[in-house]
Amino acid sequence: MMFWQLLLLVPLVASGTRTGIQQLALSTERKIRVRLLLVRHGLSCANVIRHYSELFEVLKHKNFLDAPLCDCGKRRTERAASLLANETVDIVVASNLMRAIETAWIQFGHRPVSVVPSIGEAHHGIAAGMVKLGTFAGVIKGDLDNTARVKEDQLKILRSLHPEINVNYSYRNDSAELSSWEHFEEFLQAKLLPEMVAKDPRKTSFTIGVAAHSIFLRDSVGRRSANCPTVSGLVCASRVILGSPQPKEVRTLFGTEIRSDRQTICHNQMPGKGSDEHGGKPYNNQILEIFYNYDGGAFTIDPSAGCRTLGSSPELPYGVPGSPQHICEGDIGRCAPVWRELKGKPSLTMEAQSNLPALPMHEQVLDAAARLQRRFTGPTTSETFSMRGDLPQVETVEQKWVDAWNKADKKCASSDVPRSSCEDLPVYPDTSSKAVCDCV
Ligand SMILES: *[C@@H]1O[C@H](CO)[C@@H](O)[C@H](O)[C@H]1NC(C)=O
Ligand SMILES: *[C@@H]1O[C@H](CO)[C@@H](O)[C@H](O)[C@H]1NC(C)=O
Ligand SMILES: *[C@@H]1O[C@H](CO)[C@@H](O)[C@H](O)[C@H]1NC(C)=O
Repeated sequence: MMFWQLLLLVPLVASGTRTGIQQLALSTERKIRVRLLLVRHGLSCANVIRHYSELFEVLKHKNFLDAPLCDCGKRRTERAASLLANETVDIVVASNLMRAIETAWIQFGHRPVSVVPSIGEAHHGIAAGMVKLGTFAGVIKGDLDNTARVKEDQLKILRSLHPEINVNYSYRNDSAELSSWEHFEEFLQAKLLPEMVAKDPRKTSFTIGVAAHSIFLRDSVGRRSANCPTVSGLVCASRVILGSPQPKEVRTLFGTEIRSDRQTICHNQMPGKGSDEHGGKPYNNQILEIFYNYDGGAFTIDPSAGCRTLGSSPELPYGVPGSPQHICEGDIGRCAPVWRELKGKPSLTMEAQSNLPALPMHEQVLDAAARLQRRFTGPTTSETFSMRGDLPQVETVEQKWVDAWNKADKKCASSDVPRSSCEDLPVYPDTSSKAVCDCV
């Protein structure tokens, strides 16, 4: 071989070596795209008591240990599932709370649900102080609605509601931090992703469905606006007074808080654009999409990919409807038996339910004029719909009717009330109408 021919070979050998190194690098240092679909759980039995009860009943939502979804929540979760029907989801994970497990099962299309640590719910700041204070004063029994039941109890309830449900508890870790995005990231990086990659070494993108909670999601990816367009509450007012130069640096009465990229990534996807209007929390069943990069070692968020709400449209900017305006008895039927059992009361069979004295119905009320001639036989004050199941009194459409009836009845029982005002007995609500019962 001539010397000049040797010279020609040098670059070839060099380039060959370089390709070899690149191939080696690719096999150890992979480029994997990880898509997270973050879902807030559906409307739960505790949510219902919290949002639709009278003042003195509201606090009782805290005592609903690990509540399941209510009927309305289940129905809406089923509807929200259609938004994910065409998605390829590699694994579905949920917090250790039943409302998240149930949501994960329904909304991600009945795939096995793995319970994972650190994506549960916890109050911070003032709210956490209130829970402590309420517990100390004996008004509530702690943060029970955010406390998971033991696995066996969960499975018993979940299987009674979804006979086919498939829950994998192998990752559940009650000694891990309850609610921490950093710990969740660590779990994905150190445990879940390596296992997923080992199972499917050729795959370069994974989608993980995550069912979690509103405060957790708000504080992890969508913190409230610092600008506070709607001034509501002391904290917001304090931000206005103390000033907040930019959304990522927020001054409050308790000091300055610097937010990471990640903590504001979904800010614009939150109802009320992250203002205090909705507490900056996602709607029940809202689906947020964010991306991470994983190279076999580092696991880092990709803020440039942004955050998107799946299924959003001009009519439904958050992909799913907000809380119903009017809740009906049919929306909370599955809550009462779980509550009774929690309180150690014998379970109310369907037969026992049907043997309870009937409440006055539509016809009787329509017939009110006739009954004006005698003492009303309307519901007594102790007869309420929800109390029959021993659930805290939820202001359902029917309950409001009973309350209005009682009020009118009492008023008319007194002889000094003119007869004419007694004719205003409330008419039984048409619960088949979507305008009356709007959880559809
Ligand atoms: C899913 O795919 C079907 C069939 O292509 C389509 O009709 C439907 O609109 C898709 N749903 C969503 C939510 O994209
Ligand atoms: C539960 O998940 C673990 C971890 O991914 C897995 O090894 C195990 O096979 C799963 N169990 C079942 C019953 O699928
Ligand atoms: C559970 O979480 C704790 C605290 O983060 C951790 O030290 C422990 O290793 C975890 N256990 C398992 C089995 O992963």
